[in-house]
Amino acid sequence: MLDRLTQQPADALLALIKLYDADPRADKIDLGVGVYRTDDGATPVFAAVKAAERKLVAEQDSKAYLGPEGDMGFVHALMPYVFGAADPSKGGRIDGMQAPGGTGGLRLAFALAKRAGITRIITGNPTWPNHPQILSDLGMEAVTFNHARADGTADMDALRAAIAGARDGDAILLHGCCHNPTGIDYTPEQWDEIAALLGQSNLLPIIDLAYQGLGQGMEEDAAGMRKVLAAVPEALVCYSCDKNFGLYRERVGALYVMGRNAEDTAKVLTNGHILARVNWSQPPDHGAAAARVVLEDAELTRQWLAELDTMRARMREVRDALAGADNRVAGLDLTALASQNGLFSILALDKDQILAIREKHGVYMAGSGRINVAGLTMGNIGTFIEALADVAG
Ligand code: LMR
Repeated sequence: MLDRLTQQPADALLALIKLYDADPRADKIDLGVGVYRTDDGATPVFAAVKAAERKLVAEQDSKAYLGPEGDMGFVHALMPYVFGAADPSKGGRIDGMQAPGGTGGLRLAFALAKRAGITRIITGNPTWPNHPQILSDLGMEAVTFNHARADGTADMDALRAAIAGARDGDAILLHGCCHNPTGIDYTPEQWDEIAALLGQSNLLPIIDLAYQGLGQGMEEDAAGMRKVLAAVPEALVCYSCDKNFGLYRERVGALYVMGRNAEDTAKVLTNGHILARVNWSQPPDHGAAAARVVLEDAELTRQWLAELDTMRARMREVRDALAGADNRVAGLDLTALASQNGLFSILALDKDQILAIREKHGVYMAGSGRINVAGLTMGNIGTFIEALADVAG
């Protein structure tokens, strides 16, 4: 019976990692999958996380099960950063559960929406390719609107039209910050408008917050999501610690539910617990426990936030350098990269140019033209700009 299954292609983004590893050229440049890199090209474990892991190994006295909700100390310790220190639970309306990475949080959010009778999710295009893939696996429909305009800003007209055209009982998926793959976030004024529009609609907002702290700052990156939450009765927030704690392979994330009241939220989460049980039973512990230890310790928290500041400043430098090199690359507008956020931006290259820059110059980027700006260093950015000029000019 298994022979009925047909051959599937490897995930295009994850396959790039292997292609890059197999390339023998010493000056190759990896701008593919979204991991942060230092100016030496390394992705080290955060010093704050290393210290927390040491503490955990020394002090953890059991690895017995915690339950489908995972480490609630971790889930709650994050909340002041996500929802604001003043009233992180909004009087008990917000609570959450641990999930295996941001993807686990998304899977839970979509599956919860489905259990609530939602079949259509309004989604910007482009978006992270795994979004529509998870929706399709759940038998849900992605209804798309255009996210980015040619000048590198958000297409608000398309979003307004999508919200106006929504049906009762639809959900809308928004990237909280550091839009993947475009880096094009909504401005504070645009978030005001989005919050007001969603407040008047019957849409369930699902916010994907996978890069908090990598855009403008921890508070700034959550500000748009908080505006939406202040305007609507119910929402789901999918959170990832992959990037802002550098915990990628440890799979650390969370799903937060904002219900109409504390009883509703608790009821929704019981559905989340069942979904966790049938999918992965209980989330992996180690990474979330390490993040919790960081968040429970004032000195480690200070160190973690300082490490995040350094990452953000470096990505800003790379973005400014790319935008500043605009006149060296004919046929490509690089100036908008300076005002975009996070790891990613899209370069308007076609398939042949993306293949040519890989084959001729050893530069690896996603098939969409997405680059991970953190793959560029002060040592390789000149080479990259020359390669770009060669294929785009
Ligand atoms: C990315 O888009 O590169 C990251 O979110 C990693 C992933 O899992 O795709």
